[in-house]
Amino acid sequence: MSNYLPGLAGVPATKSNISNIDGEKGILNYRGYSIEELAQYSTFEETALLLLDGELPGEVCLREFDKQLRKNRQVKYHITDLMKTLPESGHPMEMLQVAVASLGMFYPGSECLTGSDVCTDINYIHNTTVKLISRMGTLVAMWKHLRNGYEPYLPRHDLGYAENFLYMMNGEEPDPLLARIFDICLILHAEHTINASTFSVLVNASTLATPYSVIAAAIAALSGPLHGGANQKVLEMLQQIERPEDAAAFVDKKLANKEVIWGMGHREYKTKDPRATILQRLMHQMIEAKGGEVSALLEIAQAVEKAAEERLAEKGVYANVDFYSGLLYQEMGIPPEQFTAIFAVARSVGWMAHWREQLSDNRIFRPTQVYIGEQERKYIQVSERKRR
Ligand code: COA
Repeated sequence: MSNYLPGLAGVPATKSNISNIDGEKGILNYRGYSIEELAQYSTFEETALLLLDGELPGEVCLREFDKQLRKNRQVKYHITDLMKTLPESGHPMEMLQVAVASLGMFYPGSECLTGSDVCTDINYIHNTTVKLISRMGTLVAMWKHLRNGYEPYLPRHDLGYAENFLYMMNGEEPDPLLARIFDICLILHAEHTINASTFSVLVNASTLATPYSVIAAAIAALSGPLHGGANQKVLEMLQQIERPEDAAAFVDKKLANKEVIWGMGHREYKTKDPRATILQRLMHQMIEAKGGEVSALLEIAQAVEKAAEERLAEKGVYANVDFYSGLLYQEMGIPPEQFTAIFAVARSVGWMAHWREQLSDNRIFRPTQVYIGEQERKYIQVSERKRR
């Protein structure tokens, strides 16, 4: 019997040079650059190009990429019409999956994937990458308004990615500090090695499915509460706790009921996720800028983290990226239902980088299984079966 590892824990699924995690030390690098340095000095656009192309871009190249992203924000009115037909109760991740899959019907060209030069059509690969990353933000921001029966705000070409997204969400230009904090959130969520959604990118890319289908599949994987859906769950969980003093009893009750504490634990990290540390710092920065009044929810969150850590650290369970991201988004006026979709907007960069990497050395994924079912047996006519 081959060695079966549930959840493929510790099984390498590919070779990659895009990002790297040292889970014991709590280190995350994109293309060799530490997440702390990128969060401090880079922008989402620059980090995107780093992840996609492998190197920090020069000024001209970065300017050109930024221009292309801005130019590609608008979606066809057919897509807007399609979104208008979706039920308002639909979750933003469900809308995003539908809208991204349907984009593929409007942008042909994937024939080049099945030609003899599978991955050498640089133009198709680059243009599709820009289209997808650029339109992801537009779709998510548009849905906030369309689902409530309002016309969406049109994208602004004079604003950067983060600023434009917040503008399209809230209908006004964001405060520069909030826009910068949001930009850092996008950097932090842009890539994270071979997690469930990125693995789905590899599997779907390996069949030479169109990039729109590949990303639609990744959105589905990210939507689950054990993956990206956890950020919404964290906020809903914190809202059930009235005061920081109640946090320990809340955690005890959850653990006694064998329930998970949302936003805690990670397959790769055996210490606090470095992105959670950065987000927590940003939360304090935002509070300071707002006049120092600490939000009650942040105090509750910190008390839950402390209580959970005291009880779960021996299992290597600490706060992950989803623990503090929702708190920040809430302070920016973003509704909790949109949190996971924002994660998807940022992660589209990592997904496209892995799509490109998979195509550059492709072999279709076809794992095996350990069969534990019945051995060969004879067919019995329905009239002769003992079952009712
Ligand atoms: N709350 C309570 N206990 C947790 C926990 C959590 N959030 N995360 C892990 N554990 C416990 C498990 O119950 C298990 O305990 P046991 O050994 O006594 O059975 C142990 O820690 C190992 O966890 P396991 O579920 O095997 O880890 P995994 O690598 O399979 O799962 C996650 C990783 C992320 C799915 C898991 O930690 C989780 O469900 N977290 C909450 C959801 C979340 O925040 N997801 C976002 C990830 S970025």
